[in-house]
Amino acid sequence: MGIINLSEITPGMVLAADLRNNDGRFLLSKGSKVASKDIRIFKIWGVIEADIEGVTQNDVEEKVISHLEPAIVEAVEKKVRKHFVHTNLEDPVIYELFRCCKIRTVKAIKTKDSVEILNMQDLTSSNEIEDTIVEGTAPPVNPVELIKQDINLPTLPTVFMQINDTIQNPTSSAIDIAKVIGNDINLSAKLLKIVNSAFYGFPNKIDTLTRAVTILGTKQLSTLAMGINILTAFNNIPDCLIDMKSFWMHSIACGTISRIIANYQGFQNTERLFLAGLIHDIGRLVLYNYTPINARNAIQKAKNNDRLLYELEHETMNCDHTTIGALLLKKWKLPKSLENAVRYHHSPKNSRDPLEPAIVHLADIMTIALGIGSSGERLVPPLEPEAWKCIGLSPNILSLMIDQLDNQLEEILRVFNLNES
Ligand SMILES: [Fe+2]
Ligand SMILES: [Fe+2]
Repeated sequence: MGIINLSEITPGMVLAADLRNNDGRFLLSKGSKVASKDIRIFKIWGVIEADIEGVTQNDVEEKVISHLEPAIVEAVEKKVRKHFVHTNLEDPVIYELFRCCKIRTVKAIKTKDSVEILNMQDLTSSNEIEDTIVEGTAPPVNPVELIKQDINLPTLPTVFMQINDTIQNPTSSAIDIAKVIGNDINLSAKLLKIVNSAFYGFPNKIDTLTRAVTILGTKQLSTLAMGINILTAFNNIPDCLIDMKSFWMHSIACGTISRIIANYQGFQNTERLFLAGLIHDIGRLVLYNYTPINARNAIQKAKNNDRLLYELEHETMNCDHTTIGALLLKKWKLPKSLENAVRYHHSPKNSRDPLEPAIVHLADIMTIALGIGSSGERLVPPLEPEAWKCIGLSPNILSLMIDQLDNQLEEILRVFNLNES
């Protein structure tokens, strides 16, 4: 018997122990043969794993890779291991993420030629820059001075500030927020598309903003609207050192995973975590635009030496994108919780309120591991054990969260014209 992730349980498997969900609700007794309808019920009740007779997680893994040539499996393993070089593979959480990435890559491979492709390409997608480091680097960055300048990034539309005021005003009503958002036709259309997508999975179509506000709640809808605003405003800034499309894919995936984790944590306003994940690396846009020589050297050194960009930012500029991002959010007068999540997403244990930074930290690591877009970081950063403890979930939840991400991401990317096809 063995604990198997729900995503790998198939009809016909037999339960080795009574199955209950997280809240202790009894679902199916020991010895029962699992049927398709049971799997649907397990999903509804948030079951993440089950004890199954005669199968282990390793057996499941073996089955997926058994039909492939050993050379392909070996090439995949090598490639994924290289991607995880800065992580501790003995940590069960990281190992589970590694396993998911390996299986995902294996599943994507159809032919033997893929070995060559794997040997040539990185798992991450980021723009290639010339392989040279510019001599005579620019002076180190003073983040406070940098942020004081009139930053040449797109200005956020007036509606953004109005929504921000409405969120922070406790007397605002659902009608107030629907009115503010309704003034922007583009925003309203995007918002309704997302509300009607798999991101929410509502069974019936929601065709008016007022209805969306009623179903989602004022704060949730406003927070989502702010995220859409930031994305729309920044969507067209010119590619400088990185591919902007890839940057936003990374950001949206990180936001979506953050929201999925927040759901498992029982957060009321999960959109707040979507927004935090969406803007977690926004400081990089400032660095790439304002100190391109330093930023370029940091990216190049990271690439040449297989090091983490985050650490190289410190060495090259004496500050990093988390500080710059947090200062930018302060300048925009965004809620303190967002500033906290952005400032500490690489070091949640340094925050006085570590849960939200820990969620974005994990979501960022998962996004980089899965190779969805890139904000410049090529290798998977290490997971803070304290952050995982703070989140307090079973490692087996990772594969389920990845399934949920796959289910939701495509439609959101399509709303912003960021889908691959
Ligand atoms: Fe980051
Ligand atoms: Fe990131």
